[in-house]
Amino acid sequence: MDIPWWRDAVVYEIYVRSFADASGDGVGDLAGVRERLPYLAELGVDAIWLTPFYPSPMADGGYDVADYRGVDPLFGTLGDFESLVTDAHELGLKVIVDVVPNHSSSAHPWFQAALRGEHRDRYIFRDQPNNWQSTFSGPAWTKLPDGQYYLHLFAPGQPDFNWRNPEIHREFLDVLRFWLDRGVDGFRIDVAMGLYKAKGLPDVKDQSFKAVSPVWGQPEVHEVYRDWRKLLDGYPGERMAVGEVWTDSSEDLALYVRPDELHQSFNFAWLQAPWSPTAFKKVIDDTLAAVPFATWVLSNHDVVRHRTRYESADPGTGLMRAKAALLTMLALPGSAYLYQGEELGLPEVKDLPPEARQDPVFIQSKGELVGRDGCRVPLPWSADGGSLGFSPDGVAPWLPQPAGFSALSVAAQNADSASTLAFYRRALACRRELVRSIPYTLEWLDSPESALFFTRGSLICAVNCGTEPVRLPPHDGVLLPSGPLDGDLLPPDTAVWLRARS
Ligand code: GLC
Repeated sequence: MDIPWWRDAVVYEIYVRSFADASGDGVGDLAGVRERLPYLAELGVDAIWLTPFYPSPMADGGYDVADYRGVDPLFGTLGDFESLVTDAHELGLKVIVDVVPNHSSSAHPWFQAALRGEHRDRYIFRDQPNNWQSTFSGPAWTKLPDGQYYLHLFAPGQPDFNWRNPEIHREFLDVLRFWLDRGVDGFRIDVAMGLYKAKGLPDVKDQSFKAVSPVWGQPEVHEVYRDWRKLLDGYPGERMAVGEVWTDSSEDLALYVRPDELHQSFNFAWLQAPWSPTAFKKVIDDTLAAVPFATWVLSNHDVVRHRTRYESADPGTGLMRAKAALLTMLALPGSAYLYQGEELGLPEVKDLPPEARQDPVFIQSKGELVGRDGCRVPLPWSADGGSLGFSPDGVAPWLPQPAGFSALSVAAQNADSASTLAFYRRALACRRELVRSIPYTLEWLDSPESALFFTRGSLICAVNCGTEPVRLPPHDGVLLPSGPLDGDLLPPDTAVWLRARS
């Protein structure tokens, strides 16, 4: 069997609002993405994933969709989208778009009709609410003037669809067709373990993003993905789908990637693991045992950037560990998802002024939860200028950039062969050369307790999570280190790719 493109793909997540602003309104847009496609091709990724750019009141940064078949004027036009896909394909980049099937925006014509009392069975209306909470804090129910309540597992502006109504199934199949006909190579499915709620909507004791609870992970959801898979398989080219599935176990995750369901599912266990060889090894073993096609992800638009997550009391460790984790991740079998700005080593921005914050998590919790704006700060492209090249001169970006972003800008790092950006380019180029010639299996090698050594055919990867240097395993040359080596010693917080002895 030919290896499908997505099996080993490195996919770059573009949070469109914060990538590049061509129109000059302070918000990133599709034309901005299009202009920067050569940067992404040069970086060496295989595909881009675009977060929602559909018409939206932006109650949740576009994850509240008012029209599933259009482009919000904030982001451009359908013509801009089509040109972006054409250019991306010419550069050899695949394009994945977000689909948001768990909920629409309250501005969606169907919800507007429901508010008028028409077709309320497209959403979830009740005379009495249950005890479910919104993921963004506060109750998951909002009362209408006529006395009924509607369910929203996220913001009140994101009413949950009723997937027990066949009309919703037909509608989403048609939405997928709309974008497939415009040449997209795949979909990222938002809250893929949502969609169905347990019949009778029973109260719950604990409502974390659990694999199976009355709120998430109902078995009926798999029928939806079987239908979607049939649709994708009916199109020419290898169209794919990756699910945003938060679960507690790799066995549950595996249910979503059965051969007739989704192609991939994000492996958040990797992102949640602390900087520890035992934690990393467990996630790797569990993942490879459970799923046929693994994915790995360190950061995205919903979590604290991994450079900051890995920071210890010792300043500088965060970036060293982030680079070592990247090298380790890129050596694992499967595909890797990168988040914009990690190639620059951007940290989480912690000190955003409260009045600048826009995340509904911050707003709904009245500032009790800081929310996700800190990983969504617009990218620094140039070392100077009001918005560091994000917007045209004189335009303020939608979130302020901290002073430290100038030194981390693309322009500053382009000029420095020791930069994080240069390291990412080297790692991605080296991986591209190797990845199809090494087996899709991993063998552990003996290593000191504080380190992990593994091999895949001609490649050895070693990572040192401890505080003392460790001796490298026997090898036949260094391919790429994440930081300086000390002779035959691998320093703390460093990883390396080595050529295996033949
Ligand atoms: C997903 C998105 C997140 C959004 C939520 C509701 O988790 O990644 O950004 O807030 O779904 O749509």
